[in-house]
Amino acid sequence: MTANRPHDLDFTRPGIPFAIMRVALFAAAGFLSLPVWGDEALAKTKGCMACHAAERKLIGPTYRDMAGKYAGRKDAETLLAENTLKGTPAPGGLGWRNEGKASLSFMPSTPGLRPEEARRLSRWILTHKR
Ligand code: HEC
Repeated sequence: MTANRPHDLDFTRPGIPFAIMRVALFAAAGFLSLPVWGDEALAKTKGCMACHAAERKLIGPTYRDMAGKYAGRKDAETLLAENTLKGTPAPGGLGWRNEGKASLSFMPSTPGLRPEEARRLSRWILTHKR
């Protein structure tokens, strides 16, 4: 197809095609890392980070403990998204505090959180495996 324009395909040749190729590669790398960055930013915006951290127990359990507890469960993503959306039942909650992994016994729901955001956060939480 481009056999009549051999220079355009020669990436070892310095010049504009090479520069464009490099820009394209950087753009692709940036795009691929965006989802993870975006989900952590969402957790910050929605206030999750006030009570949760990746590896340090705060008011709620760590993301690592959550991912560990539900590892291997096929419904994990749906379950965590629902619990995030609804909060967990006061006053007893789901028992994270009894296990010593949280300092509050239940999680209040987050006002204004949309179902698709809860699902994104749930998927992100489940990536925090050991
Ligand atoms: C006011 C503090 C607080 C905030 C804010 C908070 N959480 Fe929690 N979260 C908790 C506590 C406490 C628990 C343990 C609840 C229990 O044992 O019932 C918990 C538990 C969870 C769980 C585990 C539920 C389960 O099924 O075991 C998930 C998932 C979760 N939080 C996600 C989130 C996300 C995502 C956000 C942000 C939208 C968020 N939390 C905001 C305090 C909080």
